[in-house]
Amino acid sequence: MRIIKPLKYKELKGLSEKQLSEHHDVLYAGYVKKISEIEEKLKNVDLSSTNATHSDLRELKMEETFALNGVKLHEGYFENLTPDGSPSTSLRVNNQIKDLIVQDFGSYENWEKEFKAMGLAARGWVVLGYDLDEKKLKNILCDSHNQGGVWNMIAILIMDVYEHAYFLDYATARKAYIEAFFQNINWEFANSLLDKYNIK
Ligand SMILES: [Fe+2]
Repeated sequence: MRIIKPLKYKELKGLSEKQLSEHHDVLYAGYVKKISEIEEKLKNVDLSSTNATHSDLRELKMEETFALNGVKLHEGYFENLTPDGSPSTSLRVNNQIKDLIVQDFGSYENWEKEFKAMGLAARGWVVLGYDLDEKKLKNILCDSHNQGGVWNMIAILIMDVYEHAYFLDYATARKAYIEAFFQNINWEFANSLLDKYNIK
């Protein structure tokens, strides 16, 4: 049985306790429950009658990646935020992630402009990822948990743009939610991922 990782804060700048608890305690927790259920069912799935139109193995394996990525993306999203979030200007002092962003996007401003614009273009997620094969950062757009991701990529900064992530606080004003997201980014966590995966 998988563990539901607790939310380390109650509210953030521009994101209310109600918004965050619905997102974490109901939606994220739901994915944790579902991946556990799918993994349990896979232990006894019939491997003798598989079929590409419909079979239990096919359906479970399709939804396994949806639920598992639903867990991973949400855990990353909540870790990427903190009430002590650094405003983007603090990135202008030297640190690892800033150096990599400047190297791969030309400037911090170029990266931020593209990431925010992608937040309006995506139906699910925008991820700043580090491709371990190409050895560079790239912004990735995913319309669904199991669509659009790139293999061998480490998710460094994850932004949820599904309506459930902001609708209680912002209704349809996604642009304002994206601005709030940026006020709460935990860049120290992003740097810790670079250390964890030895990315230089
Ligand atoms: Fe979400």
